[in-house]
Amino acid sequence: MGEVAVDAAFIQAIEHRPKPVRIEAEGIPLIDLSVLNTPDSDADDLASLVSQVGDASQKWGFFQVINHGVPLEYREKIELASRKFFALPKEEKLMVGRDEMNPLGYYDTEHTKNVRDWKEVFDFAGKNPTFIPASHEPDDQEVRELNNQWPQNPPELREVCEEYAKEVQKLAFKLLELIALSLGLPKNRFNGFFEDHTTFIRVNHYPPCPSPNLALGVGRHKDGGALTILAQDDVGGLQVKRKTDGEWILVKPTPNAYIINVGDIIQVWSNDKYESVEHRVMVNSEKERFSIPFFFNPAHYTWVEPMEELINEQNPRKYKPYNWGKFFTTRKRSNFKKLDVENLQI
Ligand code: SIN
Ligand code: FE2
Repeated sequence: MGEVAVDAAFIQAIEHRPKPVRIEAEGIPLIDLSVLNTPDSDADDLASLVSQVGDASQKWGFFQVINHGVPLEYREKIELASRKFFALPKEEKLMVGRDEMNPLGYYDTEHTKNVRDWKEVFDFAGKNPTFIPASHEPDDQEVRELNNQWPQNPPELREVCEEYAKEVQKLAFKLLELIALSLGLPKNRFNGFFEDHTTFIRVNHYPPCPSPNLALGVGRHKDGGALTILAQDDVGGLQVKRKTDGEWILVKPTPNAYIINVGDIIQVWSNDKYESVEHRVMVNSEKERFSIPFFFNPAHYTWVEPMEELINEQNPRKYKPYNWGKFFTTRKRSNFKKLDVENLQI
């Protein structure tokens, strides 16, 4: 019998524990975005890119992109500064600890589906002020700003985080347009929802774990927002549930690539043409791992519902409209346990 070296709160039920790693040669599609940054590219090149994005979104809900236009230096700077932050003593990190009034900040305790995740996190929102409903009473119009807390150390953290957010946001809008085109919609069909967006960015640190066969860095879950743009380091650990057979497939690290996945909102907008796919994070006993997801989310006042143009008699609407701000606040307050977009199906 192996010795249990982690607290019981971290232990996954047997059916959710990771199996020995399987690296797939034919895994998540890798898409080259250079067409978007080449002034003389033609309509055929764009059409081919759009169809690659559509195919990957349909088959996997996930893809990786290269030649995406985000300069590497921004990513290197945020990685370096966040390593310095996570290396600080716990008491110092807890000075920027998140709480009910400041939901952005540092924390080391999060549960996904009632099991504790083996990670610590710093959340921030870039420069745009971000608003969420002040309560989850259905008729309450009051909103409050999501305040960001910044640590004193390392002093450059705030600037590198805000610069990173600005650069990745440009990529986020390009991807949003590609997704719209791939659904046969006008390029800017979704842009208006993001004028006051509620995007936030998370820096994850997964320390080495003495029982990587029992615990997970993040338990299985789907992303609730529109799009996630993830930078992972070279350690690896992210697994995606393959739609065809439910097998967990490791997303092999590709230097300077971003991993893109469609979240629940795009699932609803597309009326289930694209699916928000389950994923989870394995940890290992030797190496720490860092990752930076950028959660691209619409304005809090957005009513999310299937796009009218995609609905007809053969393809009736599958979801009732729901208010994104309320959904997000409720989901966050309930620690992601209660609310799922599946509950909003017609
Ligand atoms: C997440 O899905 O929440 C984290 C992904 C990762 O760390 O690779
Ligand atoms: Fe996720």
